[in-house]
Amino acid sequence: MRLLIVYATTEGQTRKIARFCADRLSQAGHAVELLPAADAEGIDWPRIAGAILAGSVHMGRVQEGLERFAAAHAGDLGARPSLFLQVSLAAAGDDPEERADIERIADDFCARTGWQPDRTLQVAGAFRFTQYDFFRRWAMRWIASQKGERIRPGEDREYTDWTELADALDAWLAATSEREETAK
Ligand SMILES: Cc1cc2nc3c(=O)[nH]c(=O)nc-3n(C[C@H](O)[C@H](O)[C@H](O)COP(=O)(O)O)c2cc1C
Repeated sequence: MRLLIVYATTEGQTRKIARFCADRLSQAGHAVELLPAADAEGIDWPRIAGAILAGSVHMGRVQEGLERFAAAHAGDLGARPSLFLQVSLAAAGDDPEERADIERIADDFCARTGWQPDRTLQVAGAFRFTQYDFFRRWAMRWIASQKGERIRPGEDREYTDWTELADALDAWLAATSEREETAK
């Protein structure tokens, strides 16, 4: 099958997650087109069997570039199996309020774009202090301390659960293959 992955990233973790997905789908024998949302143009939709969109939450919202892409292609996306990977730090914890927040952020994203993915997965992201400017470093160190995390200056910390992501991808791929077979 030919599969599409479109992502938006601010500090790089979602790019890493999108590449991981691309590698796993390729290893399973599929052709994968991996595109940053800003460059995702001229897609040959009839050849695409399924699509994954991945973006990260900053100040309660996913990147506008990904939102524009999803809104522009809501019909194309809705016509085939699709998966939304929403990356955040709230997904790394089990605070019920924070979990409810990220669910709402994903619901708002879908409502604004008119795209209804078959599945939305909340993926834990990373602190990337090496990528932050002065203000962000300060703000994020405060957030880290609120979470009881001790992070040394210049240190990054990754929370992404690669095994959980791989399992979710495999399940989505199996469902996508099944739909493709039934459509034949
Ligand atoms: C300025 C800033 C604001 C953020 N706001 C949120 C937020 O509102 N909720 C949340 O759960 N995570 C928030 N995060 C954490 C990011 O979602 C997390 O670091 C993610 O891994 C970033 O992905 P990226 O590197 O692909 O941009 C924020 C991070 C930064 C730097």
